[in-house]
Amino acid sequence: MSRDTLTVTDNRTGATYEIPIAQGTIRAMDLRQIRTGAEDFGLMTYDPGLTNTAATKSAITYIDGDQGILRYRGIPIEQLAAHSSYLETAYLIIFGELPTAAQLAQWELEVGHHSMLHTNIQHLIEAFRYNAHPMSVFISATASLSTLYPDARQIADPANRLLQVQRMIAKAATIAAFTYRHNQGWPNNYPDDGLSFVGNFLKMMFRMTEVQYQPDPVLERALNVLFILHADHEQNCGTNAMRVIGSSQADPYSALAGAAAALYGPLHGAANEAVLRMLEQIGSPANVPGFLRRVKAGEERLMGFGHRVYKNYDPRCRIIKRTADEVFQVTPRNPLLDVALELERIALQDEYFISRKLYPNVDFYSGLIYRAMNLPASMFTVMFAVPRTCGWVAQWMELVADQEQKISRPRQIYIGSPTRDYLPMAARGAAPEGVGA
Ligand code: ACO
Repeated sequence: MSRDTLTVTDNRTGATYEIPIAQGTIRAMDLRQIRTGAEDFGLMTYDPGLTNTAATKSAITYIDGDQGILRYRGIPIEQLAAHSSYLETAYLIIFGELPTAAQLAQWELEVGHHSMLHTNIQHLIEAFRYNAHPMSVFISATASLSTLYPDARQIADPANRLLQVQRMIAKAATIAAFTYRHNQGWPNNYPDDGLSFVGNFLKMMFRMTEVQYQPDPVLERALNVLFILHADHEQNCGTNAMRVIGSSQADPYSALAGAAAALYGPLHGAANEAVLRMLEQIGSPANVPGFLRRVKAGEERLMGFGHRVYKNYDPRCRIIKRTADEVFQVTPRNPLLDVALELERIALQDEYFISRKLYPNVDFYSGLIYRAMNLPASMFTVMFAVPRTCGWVAQWMELVADQEQKISRPRQIYIGSPTRDYLPMAARGAAPEGVGA
């Protein structure tokens, strides 16, 4: 009869151990008993980048990377993109169920109430140079919210947690818009409760002198879809940062700033900005084969391609491509689109990319949509961070309520010097080449 266990024989000692398997996983601490003697610390696993380590149990987002499946709370992303609004999806992600009409109206009202930004934070944003990278400003402004809301440290109080969650979702959009306005040298537009979350965001970003700003319905719909697609993505680099900082019981604004900082890297959320710069560098479809030759030679990286989890296709990319087509109907045609299409066409037929299972990811087309909306490339990652805030805060709520979680503290394999004595300066030889040069 089969048992849900793993039998391990340690060939160093000949000892055999039976380790329980639950949900396709063994507990790393069960390996600690495998020792060669009393002095041995016990067996550990080595997993740089945590490529095969489950650091939490989560009920929020399900991904099957081989099948190209993404679901929030069990609902396929395709259905949410077709029928839901960003705030409704945020409610689902945070509370686990779709809201009733009354719950949604209350939720929209509450989030709307928190969209104003204290003038201290406005002044903070204005204190940065006009050309400061918007993502650096976004990270600083979200971190500084903890100075305004010191009550956020009461993380054991569920009502207080919910209040901070509403604040974070609402203020992320206002911070992003005010950062953009400062970057452009334009005065801020204050939030407008008469619009949807996304419509209000568009107004805060783009209203100029119109008496009655009405967001373009195609752009509002497109941004709504993009916000839904970016709302959560289980244990990625930014979310892991949110959980690692949250595990020390730091306030959620500090954790949010850390998550945004992780998103800022070009291998993560800043890939959309890097894609656009890459397309600009390639310049025209005729230069695509030469660029791909350099990628294959290891001299360049094809930004917007490849994913740690998706090894078939990124389901978000398929929806984004459709959304991009809609946006391009109402905006001037961008010649970089032809470069992107040619890159995708050739790469998908090329053995290098096929054998490594490299497909376009969410960032390949999102940058082109943002560019069509007239946004500078430096704003693209901020456009990612605004909706991802709801995923970060949902994951933080889950972490705080999870009795199994502990402060995040990995192990290491020490490869440095064995113990040695401090040498007085006079007794030290010449520095090895390169050290202190
Ligand atoms: N261009 C060229 N080669 C690539 C690319 C790429 N974009 N991505 C992976 N490869 C190659 C690697 O060089 C490696 O080749 P090798 O086996 O010959 O050494 C192989 O494919 C496997 O790649 P890994 O780096 O091991 O894959 P990993 O899962 O660690 O990395 C990542 C995933 C970081 C997303 C990577 O594919 C990448 O750098 N992509 C470009 C950046 C990007 O678009 N990031 C956005 C991801 S989506 C998001 O974060 C929102």
